[in-house]
Amino acid sequence: MKKYNVGIIGATGMVGQRFSLLLSHHPWFNVVALAASPRSAGKRYEEAVGAKWAMTSPIPENLKDLIVMDATADVEKIAGMVDFVFCAVDMKKDEIKALEERYAKAECPVVSNNSAHRFTPDVPMVVPEINPEHIDIIPAQRKRLGTNRGFVAVKSNCSLQSYVPALHPLKDEFGIDRVLVCTYQAISGAGKTFDTMPEIVDNVIPYIGGEEEKSEQEPLKLWGKIEGDHIESAKEPLFTAQCFRVPVSDGHTAAVFVKFKKKPTKEQILEAWKNFKGVPQECNLPSAPKQFLHYFEEDNRPQAKLDRMIENGMAVSVGRLREDNQYDYKFACLSHNTLRGAAGGAVLLAELLAEKGYFD
Ligand SMILES: NC(=O)c1ccc[n+]([C@@H]2O[C@H](COP(=O)([O-])OP(=O)(O)OC[C@H]3O[C@@H](n4cnc5c(N)ncnc54)[C@H](OP(=O)(O)O)[C@@H]3O)[C@@H](O)[C@H]2O)c1
Repeated sequence: MKKYNVGIIGATGMVGQRFSLLLSHHPWFNVVALAASPRSAGKRYEEAVGAKWAMTSPIPENLKDLIVMDATADVEKIAGMVDFVFCAVDMKKDEIKALEERYAKAECPVVSNNSAHRFTPDVPMVVPEINPEHIDIIPAQRKRLGTNRGFVAVKSNCSLQSYVPALHPLKDEFGIDRVLVCTYQAISGAGKTFDTMPEIVDNVIPYIGGEEEKSEQEPLKLWGKIEGDHIESAKEPLFTAQCFRVPVSDGHTAAVFVKFKKKPTKEQILEAWKNFKGVPQECNLPSAPKQFLHYFEEDNRPQAKLDRMIENGMAVSVGRLREDNQYDYKFACLSHNTLRGAAGGAVLLAELLAEKGYFD
């Protein structure tokens, strides 16, 4: 595989920091540009991040002296330096939409963590093991944007990346009728640490703005189909979600209740989870976990603290599968929200796009 030059837009943020670590020694991607707000622009990366550095590993040596650019003022300059950019910024939704389209129209593909374009009908929202075929919508998007290379591709919200992977291998064979899910989400999902969110210590906050809607609606786009120039979301199953913020640094947990159209046996579910492989595993993409779904037999697993880093934070852990007296089954799921759920998921999507020639 040839090496691609990449930029990180929002490099100083929680997700941007994860990108910098994941990409500092990536076999295919070489970071040549870092960008953030005008507050950071013109500073060395190490200086711009300063005390906001929230990772347990230090700032990568090969990136700490790069001068941070201005994500908005330097679009054309950055587009001229890179083959594509990763984007994770904290801005207003309409500003993010406009910014990402500016990069795309400057012929610079954007792989985004932001939610702004998730429901743009010709923007693929992809979990590479679940709906890799949605990247085939990119030619239609390029036609709308009037670009040859430029496009926007997004990853889905972090909360659903714990439970949708577990439901996906059961969907076609058994039919999913409805799902109830309660999520217990880590503070890094809000770009916070225990130092910057002291109110979460000894506490649970039963509200995360916009999260329940995303957790209910985004799975239906993932399970949708390309129809002409857009992706048509699936009409079912019905999801209902409650999302809580909990005092955990990293790792979103979900309690899932599911009713099937044709109830499987417990053994059939476990077999489907064990055997599930997607395109990333078949193509051996560099960031793909070998085993996507890890099932724990122990009653007290998965646990965020113990299990979030399985397969470098790219696998999903599942446990406590049992029958339910209202739904058919219930179980628990866990995924690392800034790895599989954010930067790692975006890197895997970029690897898929590179493998399929979309950055050439
Ligand atoms: N954290 C997660 O687990 C997670 C998961 C999935 C998706 N996301 C999404 O990823 C995005 C970033 O989240 P985060 O947690 O990394 O946020 P964050 O820690 O608050 O970082 C925000 C980044 O945006 C930059 N920024 C702010 N205003 C800007 C402006 N006007 N122009 C250019 N850059 C600007 C910041 O630069 P300065 O440092 O210069 O201010 C910083 O680099 C959000 O859309 C979020 O919803 C986050």
